[in-house]
Amino acid sequence: MTILFGIILILHFVGLASLLGGVLVQVKDNAAGKGRIVAAMIHGALTQLVTGILLVGLIEMGSGDVNTAKIATKLAVVIVITVLVFVYRKKSPLASWVVWLIGALTLANIAIAVLWH
Ligand code: HEM
Repeated sequence: MTILFGIILILHFVGLASLLGGVLVQVKDNAAGKGRIVAAMIHGALTQLVTGILLVGLIEMGSGDVNTAKIATKLAVVIVITVLVFVYRKKSPLASWVVWLIGALTLANIAIAVLWH
């Protein structure tokens, strides 16, 4: 169980890297009004959704000690990110606020994950 939890948590970090990395490689283009949704963002958002839910399931099977308010907030944030990447994935030119917002929401979820106990 501990190994499985560790593997899923690593995949959760890979999803985070993909989502945030997708935003970071767009910073220059997006600032010039030429940003777009890249596949890494879509895959990253879906990975966070799936691995996050799996982590909650594994915790429930173990100690059951889940911070429901924290998880509900993270889930709501990732749902907004997922909707944004799907709705705007084929938009070109893309309004720059979309990529900034995806980046800000991703950072918000990192802050929630690390700072909310
Ligand atoms: C953009 C989306 C997300 C980001 C950036 C993110 C980020 C993180 C980070 C950095 C950690 C490690 C925290 C630590 O160990 O101190 C973590 C852990 C975890 N995440 Fe996420 N997460 C996201 C989405 C989700 C979602 C949607 C769920 C559940 C539905 C979720 C559930 C969890 C759980 C259960 C853990 C391990 C236990 C904990 O530290 O609370 N995450 N996440």
